[in-house]
Amino acid sequence: MRPKELPERRTREAEPPPPVERRAQPCAMVVFGASGDLTRRKLIPAIYNLDWDHLLAPGFALVGYARQPRDHHQFRQEMLAAVDRHSRRPGDPLTWESFAKRLHYCSGEYDDPKGYAQLADLLADLDRRLGTEGNRLYYLATPPSLVPTIITRLKEAGLVSPRASGRGWSRVVVEKPFGRDLDSAMALNQLLTAVFREDQVYRIDHYLGKETVQNILVFRLGNGVFEPLWNHHHVDHVQITVGESLGVEGRGHYFEEAGILRDMVQNHLIQLLTLVAMEPPAAFEADAVRDEKVKVLKALRPLTDEDVDRLVVRGQYGKARVGDQTFPGYREEPGVAPDSSIETFVALTVHIDNWRWAGVPFFLRAGKRLPKRVTEIAIHFKRVPYALFRSAGCGALEPNVLTLRIQPDEGISLGFGSKAPGPTIRIDQVQMDFRHAAAFGDAPPDAYERLILDSIAGDSTLFARGDEVKCAWSFITSILDAWGRHPPPEFPNYAAGTWGPEAADALIRRGGTRSWREPS
Ligand code: BG6
Repeated sequence: MRPKELPERRTREAEPPPPVERRAQPCAMVVFGASGDLTRRKLIPAIYNLDWDHLLAPGFALVGYARQPRDHHQFRQEMLAAVDRHSRRPGDPLTWESFAKRLHYCSGEYDDPKGYAQLADLLADLDRRLGTEGNRLYYLATPPSLVPTIITRLKEAGLVSPRASGRGWSRVVVEKPFGRDLDSAMALNQLLTAVFREDQVYRIDHYLGKETVQNILVFRLGNGVFEPLWNHHHVDHVQITVGESLGVEGRGHYFEEAGILRDMVQNHLIQLLTLVAMEPPAAFEADAVRDEKVKVLKALRPLTDEDVDRLVVRGQYGKARVGDQTFPGYREEPGVAPDSSIETFVALTVHIDNWRWAGVPFFLRAGKRLPKRVTEIAIHFKRVPYALFRSAGCGALEPNVLTLRIQPDEGISLGFGSKAPGPTIRIDQVQMDFRHAAAFGDAPPDAYERLILDSIAGDSTLFARGDEVKCAWSFITSILDAWGRHPPPEFPNYAAGTWGPEAADALIRRGGTRSWREPS
């Protein structure tokens, strides 16, 4: 705790609690993998901030489960360090004191029934002492290989209750990667749904918890102006970019098994795509929203090997000097094979074969070690039908581009042509710009805060449903299979700090004058 660093404003008392209905239900949240990085960096800081915001019920407790022996006190000290280091708000003594009382620890092997018996005793004790009411949220923050074991052991220990039993509810949150191809994802689905009902399973994709991602539907469907333009009559094409300036940051072993297609495209980019392309749901309710997302996924034009060759570009970064810094190539990163053929960049053209989007290509790209960290969706509208101002000496006018800036510098801007002051007609491009920070203040809450709160509240709108994951994997697996049958390009094929291989530019230029937008 570093009290001297506490901000003067924004103490817990200064903020009124939100209306009671926004608070989550009483429950015990059990985090498997409690000594891992995700728990320290994301889960504990998120829950701490929910507590700060008075969003947790008085009967909320967290149980960390991991192999290492430690007592409740040691666990709390470690979590305090995690809050100090990673929370968006600093460790506030008052909040910490009450928060620490909610934290508990249970040590056990993942495959040993004894560990689960101890967990059952601890949970029963928390029900009695803290009023967690038999409600259980199991958060699997472990490597995927442990998921089947944990699920099976939970069931054997009688720790999974169907809602009908009146013993409280049980839910499970499953982290990514959710499988590594269509078959493994289906096997995992089967395993989960043999123990939990589909509505008890929360497949997390943290992009869905980002405020700006949630704003995609609000922007489209909460305003009368934009939705009438949101179709093939007015849109020329859509670009979705998720760029990261960092490399694999010590996760070389993991990345060698994944690659950017599995790591970012199968989940995050596909989710962004469905939110941009889906039809308005009949209600803003979990299944209605997810039904519409699934329809988009089912309308993705399937890719043959030949299509993959034409419409998908893969890249891997090589060593480069940027300014006065030298960045290693992917093959020089720890844990990476010196002749690795894993992709760190992918660009692809996606067609959605339905009434709304016929003929509108969606260009997606994601990469590590690009020039900047940026996630944005750019809707490129069609040009005006007639060049009225050509006679006044103006050349081709720029088409309007609506940009949803997901991160950083969250906001939305619309580019349009405006007459530059002066006696002649000269048209300059200008921007109408909404900045999230200017309108709403502080940085938005972390995505995990929203997603954990929703899973405690039983709202799965922002979680992927089984059929959604299946459709996404089916599309991605056709690319993986085609790649498996053809040797990769000569890697590395882009220098760290650039926007990917030249082939990605050729991909978007093909058959027209389009080019990748330089993200703002
Ligand atoms: C994770 C990927 O899902 O998302 C990481 O595994 C990636 O490789 C991260 O860096 C990006 O998330 P964000 O929220 O920083 O854009």
